[in-house]
Amino acid sequence: MRAVDIIIKKRDKKELSGEEISYMINAFTDGSVPDYQMSSFAMAVLLNGMTHQEITELTLAMAASGDQLDPSEFGGNVVDKHSTGGVGDKTTLVVAPIVAACGLPVGKMSGRGLGFSGGTIDKLESIPGLKTDLSTEEFFSHLREHGIVLTGQSADLAPADGKLYALRDVTGTVQSIPLIASSVMSKKIASGANAIALDVKVGRGAFMKTLEDARELAEVMVAIGNLSGRRVIAVISQMDQPLGVAVGNALELKEAIEMLHGRGPKDFHAHCIDLSAYMLILGHKTKNLQEGREMAQAALDDGRAWQKFKEMIGAQHGDLGFVEHPEKLPQSRYVFSINAEKSGYIKTVDAQEVGESSVMIGAGRAKKDDQIDPAVGIMVRVKIGDKVEVGQRMFDVHVEKESDFEIVFEKLKKAVEITNEPVEAPPYFWDVLGMN
Ligand code: URA
Repeated sequence: MRAVDIIIKKRDKKELSGEEISYMINAFTDGSVPDYQMSSFAMAVLLNGMTHQEITELTLAMAASGDQLDPSEFGGNVVDKHSTGGVGDKTTLVVAPIVAACGLPVGKMSGRGLGFSGGTIDKLESIPGLKTDLSTEEFFSHLREHGIVLTGQSADLAPADGKLYALRDVTGTVQSIPLIASSVMSKKIASGANAIALDVKVGRGAFMKTLEDARELAEVMVAIGNLSGRRVIAVISQMDQPLGVAVGNALELKEAIEMLHGRGPKDFHAHCIDLSAYMLILGHKTKNLQEGREMAQAALDDGRAWQKFKEMIGAQHGDLGFVEHPEKLPQSRYVFSINAEKSGYIKTVDAQEVGESSVMIGAGRAKKDDQIDPAVGIMVRVKIGDKVEVGQRMFDVHVEKESDFEIVFEKLKKAVEITNEPVEAPPYFWDVLGMN
């Protein structure tokens, strides 16, 4: 087989066989298919799509590109969550400790930023010393000892996804149902979780812009999960505007720490509680959403989730002084505000514009090997439906250089639309799949 023939076949909108897909993935993993051919393949998939059979083959080939963990010693109850990517989505940092504090082992492999969306590992790495490249043995020993582990994608688990993810980030090939579904589910299958809560984002700041596409992505992922013997629930959640207030790595970590103390934005709180509740349902701690919410809230209220978070950070060699005193976390040199130019009601806070702005000031990557700046980011002070007065603060932009603020000033101003008529706040969630 030759990679170029497989690329041409997909370019010409033909269905690939399982062997062709496996060949492509294996050869990419071992380096014999170079980045430029894989980028071209990814673009052909993005433009021409894949059948459900092809997506399943792609997922399984990627899951099989490295080790596959077997967490059977935990009694079939290891739960995991994964978001398809949004702006200001620091949910994992709160949900994983809540659920672990409720007695369910949470073993999670998280990603880095992708395009305009942030990544949990980049956020966590604002903590000095924190180890996010745990080996398979370390992953299991942390899970056994602490009931919680949050690690980056190690070279041994779904390495094909690790390589492809980094390539997609910088080649305009993120927004594709087959590529997102296989990326998410290959990692989940390889890391062995028995049950997975998927958070499928939809809206301006998500890779899926329409409810129809989000539902299709959710359905494909639930089907692949079930096919490989996993219990899966997918929520479809609103991502027209950023989640919470903070966008940017250390800023988001601080907001997550606040939430672990029971303080923080309403939308982010609701998101954390519901996602935790779905994970508790998946892990058979409860059958009922309301009871799951109460269990999650109790773990926040009595400090168990915060203790669990600190236990995890300490176990992964993070400097606890920085989470106990978040004011020590990286801080940018300047903070500039952008204020409302008229009074009225907030109709739009375009999460994609905010996410792209945060990348432009250094919170994300433009090229694969770019270093991110943990200190920079944007605090979004308005939500859709809010009433604002002229001069009211809408954004605080945390930057290292004044010129960075100038680069994003117009873009951020345009991200917000203010109207004279009242606007209804959108729901947090649109739908839930896989509950039965
Ligand atoms: N999250 C992933 O793990 N992969 C994607 O492609 C998008 C979001």
